[in-house]
Amino acid sequence: MSSDLTIVDHPLIQHKLTILRNKETATGHFRAVLREIAFVLGCEATKDLALSEVEIETPLERGHFPYLEGDKLCFISVLRAGEGLLDGLLDLVPSARVGHVGVYRDPETLKAVKYYFKVPGKLETRRTILVDPMLATANTAIAAVDALKDAGAKHMKFMCLVAAPEGVDAFSRAHPDVPVIAAALDRELNEKGYILPGLGDAGDRIYGTKQ
Ligand code: URA
Repeated sequence: MSSDLTIVDHPLIQHKLTILRNKETATGHFRAVLREIAFVLGCEATKDLALSEVEIETPLERGHFPYLEGDKLCFISVLRAGEGLLDGLLDLVPSARVGHVGVYRDPETLKAVKYYFKVPGKLETRRTILVDPMLATANTAIAAVDALKDAGAKHMKFMCLVAAPEGVDAFSRAHPDVPVIAAALDRELNEKGYILPGLGDAGDRIYGTKQ
């Protein structure tokens, strides 16, 4: 298992995750709660941003206070389910740059198939947070990080909602330099590559596309 896996077990996250796991949770509520969780997970994912000091005046006196150094943040969403987490991250850092990687899992082979790639320039100068709600087989996340490294990304983190032990193992073997932040580490994958107990197909839950 990755030594660089952080499970954010904040009570609010765990409570909200239970709402997402519940199959009775309606699409609109699912999206709203996912956005809230992403905001809190995003605080963890950005907790090592560098601060410098600025001199300002409060209404009462002048002083030096912490201020972000201006590390250029970049969020990369794995289409399409990553969009659900992206909204919460942009609530947290509205000025961040955004990229998209289109990778889907072939339902037969479970292998990652890349079909879209659009990211901001100078990735090597940016702190990049890749988001996808489910780290299952990790094939998609590994392919997305491969593509981002090819495009120059150096400082990367992967943020998800639910991870499977198999996915964490595979991901950390492929990309030991990329820390993983998740709200939960679930039990296992089933034979179709879904996480158990999980929350089902994240894309379908976000967009209400299940037949
Ligand atoms: N992708 C999902 O959306 N859910 C899973 O359980 C696994 C992969």
